[in-house]
Amino acid sequence: MNPKALFQLSYGLYMVATKHDKKMNGCIINTVTQVTDNPKQIMVAVNKSNLTCDLIQKSKILSVSVLSETAPFSLFKHFGFQSGRDTDKFVDVPFSMTKQELPYLSGDTTAFLDCKVVNSLDLGSHILFIALVSDCEVLSNNKAMTYSFYHEFVKPQPEASASKGWRCTVCGYIYEGEELPLDFVCPLCKHGVEDFEKIG
Ligand SMILES: Cc1cc2nc3c(=O)[nH]c(=O)nc-3n(C[C@H](O)[C@H](O)[C@H](O)COP(=O)(O)O)c2cc1C
Repeated sequence: MNPKALFQLSYGLYMVATKHDKKMNGCIINTVTQVTDNPKQIMVAVNKSNLTCDLIQKSKILSVSVLSETAPFSLFKHFGFQSGRDTDKFVDVPFSMTKQELPYLSGDTTAFLDCKVVNSLDLGSHILFIALVSDCEVLSNNKAMTYSFYHEFVKPQPEASASKGWRCTVCGYIYEGEELPLDFVCPLCKHGVEDFEKIG
């Protein structure tokens, strides 16, 4: 079995947000897919260690900002490399509100969805939410960003000096060392050893 086969699956990139007890929070995910058209439902998988996951479980509502190819790396760092447990991610970020009063990004976003969670499934590391789309709008004609576009054009390429070690294929973090500990978790994007590749 070659786990790299799974890299051939294609994804988009999204900022999924929610609000509970006046705390707004959101994070970057690539796991949003429409699953039915009538009614319009999507599935959204979020890692249990993310504050966003906790808050969606409590609020049972979520918004999805569909990121466009114009989104800079700084936006991924802001929503994807730090936790809302340590910072208020919506200070100094332009956003608008959905009808459910959830934030969505007003820039670098080609569309937004406003959703109600109707079901969820515990997958171990992640919770899979099934959500009904109660509202959605197209915001621009820019192309939606794919995961492969992010890897090719947005994520900084590794320094030439970091020639040995392990690279996180999700965010580009480099672990310098011959052996990657089996329980290693990327300090930036929280992905595990299965998402690292040997370099050098
Ligand atoms: C390109 C990229 C893709 C990511 N994809 C996912 C994902 O599919 N699911 C997930 O739970 N986290 C994903 N993350 C990681 C979260 O965005 C990250 O852990 C975030 O800091 C969690 O923030 P929170 O604790 O405020 O919710 C991704 C991060 C990046 C940069």
